[in-house]
Amino acid sequence: MNALEAQALSKTFHSDGKSIDVLKSISLVIPEGEFHAVMGPSGSGKSTLLNLLAGLLPADSGSVFVSGQPLAGLSDHALTLLRRRTVGIIFQDFNLIPTLSVSENIALPALLDGHPLPKAHLDNLLNLVGLTHRADQPAEKLSGGEAQRTAIARAFAMEPRIILADEPTGNLDSPSATLFCNTLKRMNAELGTAILLISHDPQVAAAAETIHVLKDGTIRGSFASEHNATHVANRYLELMA
Ligand SMILES: Nc1ncnc2c1ncn2[C@@H]1O[C@H](COP(=O)(O)OP(=O)(O)OP(=O)(O)O)[C@@H](O)[C@H]1O
Ligand SMILES: [Mg+2]
Repeated sequence: MNALEAQALSKTFHSDGKSIDVLKSISLVIPEGEFHAVMGPSGSGKSTLLNLLAGLLPADSGSVFVSGQPLAGLSDHALTLLRRRTVGIIFQDFNLIPTLSVSENIALPALLDGHPLPKAHLDNLLNLVGLTHRADQPAEKLSGGEAQRTAIARAFAMEPRIILADEPTGNLDSPSATLFCNTLKRMNAELGTAILLISHDPQVAAAAETIHVLKDGTIRGSFASEHNATHVANRYLELMA
């Protein structure tokens, strides 16, 4: 079973009397438990792709399957439940509730789903993201890196099949970005959750095993990262040429 599968996804935007074909028949497969990244220049359609995969935006044509289930035809309510239980999303601006503590933010998806997050599970998540000592701190009093790691723990709280993360290190300094990548890698290895990470930064994308390069609306190629940023940067430039 694949955690995520996109078949021939296309999306065109219309504005000011012009149309832009942002995605042209994109197909992508993320097998269960694998860590993949999508790289591409600014404006290449990375966020659009992520929005289609999360069911936040409808595709013009093509299909998305999450854990084998097609998104087509799901009601808004069913899509909301899917995003709460099956697909974890890490947004660039974290989307934490400022007045709630780290623990409360992490447990929020479970509460919205009508049950408390088991304490042992919460403690394990806090430990995995290195925030046990910040558990009771209000989110508004966290550093950028701490807020980011809270957002990671929250995305994993419901034990989703896949996590989607859009340029999640854009606002972090380099040591925090490295810590973020190491945390994601550890969570992927220990919890077996598939991850699709979007980033234009080879250092960040190298955390993934497999990289897909998006340009001019198509996947120009996919390759193994070898967890080596220089290799990723070189292969990326080759595919961009
Ligand atoms: N709602 C919209 N209406 C019209 N055009 C849009 C809309 N959303 C995005 N676009 C256009 O689609 C293209 C792809 O945008 P997208 O945000 O997916 O790029 P991106 O690869 O995520 O870029 P970045 O790296 O800068 O975040 C851009 O040219 C953008 O201007
Ligand atoms: Mg974007």
